[in-house]
Amino acid sequence: MCGIVGYSGKQNSSKIVLEGLKTLEYRGYDSWGIAVQDKNQIKIFKEIGEIKTKLSMLPLPKTSCAIGHTRWATHGGVTMTNAHPHISTTKDFILAQNGIVENYSTLKKMLEKKKYTFKTQTDTEVIVRLIEQQTKKDETFRDSVRKAFNMLEGRNTIIVLDSKEDNHIIAVKNGSPLALGIGKDELFLASDALAFTKYTKDVVFFDNLDLIEIKGNKFKIYDSKTGKEKKYKITKLNSKVEDISKGKYDHFMLKEILEQQDTILKAVNYKLDDLKPLIDIIKKAKRIYITGAGTAGFASGQIAYYLRTISNIDVLDVRPYDFASYFPILKKDDLIIAVSQSGETADTIEVLEYAKELGCTIASIINVEGSTIHRMSDLPYLIHAGPEICVASTKVFTSQCVFGYLLAKSMVGEYTGAREEVESLSSGLREYFTEKVFNHIKKLVRSIKNRNHFFILGKEQNSYIALEGALKIKEISYKHFEGFSAGELKHGVIALIEKGTPVFTIISDDMCSKDLLSATEEVRARGAYTVGVGDSKFRKEECFNFFLPVVKSKELSALSNVVVFQLLSYFLAFSLGNSVDKPRNLAKSVTVK
Ligand code: M6R
Repeated sequence: MCGIVGYSGKQNSSKIVLEGLKTLEYRGYDSWGIAVQDKNQIKIFKEIGEIKTKLSMLPLPKTSCAIGHTRWATHGGVTMTNAHPHISTTKDFILAQNGIVENYSTLKKMLEKKKYTFKTQTDTEVIVRLIEQQTKKDETFRDSVRKAFNMLEGRNTIIVLDSKEDNHIIAVKNGSPLALGIGKDELFLASDALAFTKYTKDVVFFDNLDLIEIKGNKFKIYDSKTGKEKKYKITKLNSKVEDISKGKYDHFMLKEILEQQDTILKAVNYKLDDLKPLIDIIKKAKRIYITGAGTAGFASGQIAYYLRTISNIDVLDVRPYDFASYFPILKKDDLIIAVSQSGETADTIEVLEYAKELGCTIASIINVEGSTIHRMSDLPYLIHAGPEICVASTKVFTSQCVFGYLLAKSMVGEYTGAREEVESLSSGLREYFTEKVFNHIKKLVRSIKNRNHFFILGKEQNSYIALEGALKIKEISYKHFEGFSAGELKHGVIALIEKGTPVFTIISDDMCSKDLLSATEEVRARGAYTVGVGDSKFRKEECFNFFLPVVKSKELSALSNVVVFQLLSYFLAFSLGNSVDKPRNLAKSVTVK
């Protein structure tokens, strides 16, 4: 969470940093700020909320060195005072942070005893004061930053702009991501390389505790613990410069939903030989775990379902934030499959760090090339969905699921059949995305938008789809949607059904359909407004007040179903006037615990 950008070079630094921050806004949009170095002075501009100010309106001089930050508030409210970057008392350096200083209150008390004062409620200001304290003792500014950083606990990455020396930036990485872009006579720093790949594909990714010092167009890397210089590796990114504009759409979300007809094909664009190393390790591993958070967690569950039901492989699906209780039984012959869009989710990374230390094999199904999880994995599989900008994940979910499906089918010699099934879903979606379908969903939206509690019933292949559907709608419509297995209904949830309560039933043409029809009858008998989502053969069933038919698919009907919830979520949030792409309180990359 939070995005950091830095630039030193021949271009207008505030232009580059502003562009970078716009790209990183998915990491947090509570406030943002830019600081430029201008003839040994620092000029700052900050604003609350999303980036609305255009470059031409930015009251900053054209200079060759700047840093910037886009904030997702952790400590201290969303105010101008708390917006980063934070300047030193003597105004000779300024700093921004991505992460949490876990021991900030102890450090603050210690500094207050020494008569340091604080203007903000942030944990970040503590780092500024610690550096101030160090500058009184150390020979170099680099040493002061390094020693102050070593006092911090937690996962935090900082960037510091020094006014005393031209084009001087120092950054230290721990936990939260940071990448350096090497251009011709220019250097870029950012929480995500996407912020500068338009200018360069030559990237240095850092290890935790690396300190990076930029002076003009030169840089050096140091070990922040010892202060010793380190070697580094330049990676050439493969991915094309992707389009990150909304194109003809009002929102990234709709664009990304519609892209699924293509992205699911890209996700399975692997040869059988590419999958072999993963198949071999799945066969050999003592135990297989799959893990991911939020939507990636539901994709993990769906992939585990495919592996279990198609290839008889026992995969333990565990959420990363609840993984610690498995640590005592984790063995070095175990395989962990991490599922993540960003490849930067703190909880997931923490599990992988533990597993790596133990010697487990790590595989991953991820979207962002060069991300921490990508680099930590022995067997990384990119799903190539392209940048997903909307905070609510859509195309990456279906891509991860179809990759899991391909893997499961390949394990039982049905690689070609799996590719054909995904192709058929893709052409089905191509025909499905029409105004007629959208209008049908909008009609339902009009009739339910004023209700506040909704339920979604699924079963077996649609259990995780019920959870994902509910999460999608909660995230951007702020309505209480609860998804659960239809089997749970009579064990408690049915008590919540009142006259008019909308209940969605996900119904595929499978062995669960009868149970789902009965469950729907049961809630209808108690006054629920019932909506069927699924195979059109059920559209005439009397138990449904409304029906949303989906793309027909033999084995991937669960994914056809999820698409309807994505669209429903979009149209509902839109009709409520909510911020679709940047919902309140959320950030796309959850890089703090
Ligand atoms: O980048 P990741 O896939 O690891 O992110 C995991 C979750 O934070 C993410 O899926 C989140 O739940 C989304 N907002 C869901 O739409």
